[in-house]
Amino acid sequence: MKTIFITGGSRGLGLSLVKHFLELGNRVFATSRTLTPELESLIDDNCEFHSLDMSNPESFESAVVTCINKFGSIDLLINNASGMTGGQLIGSYSIQEIQEEYSVTMIAPTILTNIVVNKIINMSDEASLDIIFISSSSGLIGDSTCGEYPLYAASKAALIRLSDSINSSSLRGSVNSYVIIPHNIRENDYINEQAASYKDVGRTISYLIDSGDNIFIPRVEIQPKFK
Ligand SMILES: NC(=O)c1ccc[n+]([C@@H]2O[C@H](COP(=O)([O-])OP(=O)(O)OC[C@H]3O[C@@H](n4cnc5c(N)ncnc54)[C@H](OP(=O)(O)O)[C@@H]3O)[C@@H](O)[C@H]2O)c1
Repeated sequence: MKTIFITGGSRGLGLSLVKHFLELGNRVFATSRTLTPELESLIDDNCEFHSLDMSNPESFESAVVTCINKFGSIDLLINNASGMTGGQLIGSYSIQEIQEEYSVTMIAPTILTNIVVNKIINMSDEASLDIIFISSSSGLIGDSTCGEYPLYAASKAALIRLSDSINSSSLRGSVNSYVIIPHNIRENDYINEQAASYKDVGRTISYLIDSGDNIFIPRVEIQPKFK
């Protein structure tokens, strides 16, 4: 039984991942700004909700400590929440819009990861941690859709590089970082919208973190299968 700390667990992919990891018998500490009825219905001894606004990093440490006090440790951090503000061309943003997008989509996962690594790795010599960053195809070089979402694309590209950098550091072995790079993903209607399903993402994450000692797959791009 693992403990999973996930951001953006109230709906969308995050909610689906909460369900996925609970169904596999894990403990889940789900965070978001709002407690939706769907997430509320999952709360029990193995699933805790913690209200967390990713634009307020001052509150991150207390959330991490609350999770560790409740469940003993954190085995997997899933950086899922993002603050996509919508498409706009560069040249049309206010300072506040730029700061908001970067603060939730890029800076918040960086600060949260910094805190979780610090707390977990200092627990004991044998401590280990898996980290998932949910990036996006917008963050890939050559992606043709990123032009309308320059701040989101820049933030998601930064997460890919952050994950690579963690794996290139002396933390490797104790901390394993994975980046998931989805194209279009949906709960359902993924045939009409040419999207992969949220469940595909959950299954992929489980495969990555449980794939054994001799194989390490640090990044996965998930595309819908075109028919
Ligand atoms: N859907 C796609 O096609 C697609 C494609 C590529 C990548 N992605 C990535 O996949 C991840 C999940 O996407 P999604 O489609 O599931 O998004 P979504 O349905 O919009 O859900 C976003 C989640 O993030 C939380 N969140 C947003 N702003 C927050 C804030 N300031 N503080 C705390 N939580 C916040 C939301 O909860 P509250 O509003 O309750 O706080 C919600 O739980 C994101 O990182 C996204 O960039 C999605």
